[in-house]
Amino acid sequence: MNTQTNTPTSSQKPKILVARAIFPEALAKLEESFEVQSNQADQILTPAQLQDALSKVSAALVTGSERIDANALAHAKNLKIVANISVGYNNFDVPAITAAGAMATNTPDVLTDTTADFGFALLMATARRITESEHWIRAGKWDKWSIVNNPLGMDLHHSTVGIIGMGRIGQGIAKRALGFGMKVIYHNRSRLSEADEKACGASYVSKEELLKTADHVVLVLPYSAQSHHTIGAAELALMKPSATLINIARGGIVDDAALAQALKNGQIFAAGLDVFEGEPQVHPELLKLSNVVLAPHIASATEKTRRAMVDLAIENVYAALAGKKPPSLINAKAFKA
Ligand code: DGY
Repeated sequence: MNTQTNTPTSSQKPKILVARAIFPEALAKLEESFEVQSNQADQILTPAQLQDALSKVSAALVTGSERIDANALAHAKNLKIVANISVGYNNFDVPAITAAGAMATNTPDVLTDTTADFGFALLMATARRITESEHWIRAGKWDKWSIVNNPLGMDLHHSTVGIIGMGRIGQGIAKRALGFGMKVIYHNRSRLSEADEKACGASYVSKEELLKTADHVVLVLPYSAQSHHTIGAAELALMKPSATLINIARGGIVDDAALAQALKNGQIFAAGLDVFEGEPQVHPELLKLSNVVLAPHIASATEKTRRAMVDLAIENVYAALAGKKPPSLINAKAFKA
């Protein structure tokens, strides 16, 4: 009797790396088709461990914690795809990935609204001093209602929000701001079409004008060598003393030391930060200040959206290993039909 079946044995299955912990159901799905080297312990791989792991697999699911560059790819002879579980991909050296013959993908769209919601929440918490107020209550400092001696914040309604980086998430924030009766100005590498500007009620201005006139500055631009320290001491000096600064983009876009100084000196009113230079380390001076709201890079962190991000990354891997074009391919040159 022939007992052979068509179920792939583990040695026939393509090998893949899942570099960080993912939802167990997603891992189980991957294990049906692939021999998976997983990392449910969620310990960040060292560069040597990452290089070794990439040398053994056809596909890798990674996050911003894994730097994928020529060094990481040095022995990755069979790698066909590196799928980032993140929309931002400043952890990728895209030319190096292309040179290694691999496709690079990210997870756009599925996190746009969740991230825009969070940007708005951080803006509100910052302008209205919500976390500072909570700390104040927990410290037993609230002894009476007071007209002047309670945390007085800044209004959002009818104020001007200045958005730097007007991609999908920036536009999502603009649309939310319209609902609050805010005036929306923006600065971006390229100007939006007239129709897109109209949909967001947004006017294009120079970076300088934005910094000088906005009551609230929201950063949503991608990180690159060009956007490093988009906001430093000189830019902070242009902002109003009553202004807030919100960074949901990437650490390194703001000079955190200069920001801490500006917040300490009252050069700007407050800041809300979801991302930091050198995170998960936070500049020690920022930790001492009460006029900054701190969050641990959670703008896309709802369960539904994180599942959608993982699912899209998996879809990219399945497509690449089946010889199809992944839905969110970054380096078109690497796809050979
Ligand atoms: C993203 O998707 O870019 C988020 O910031 C998570 O890294």
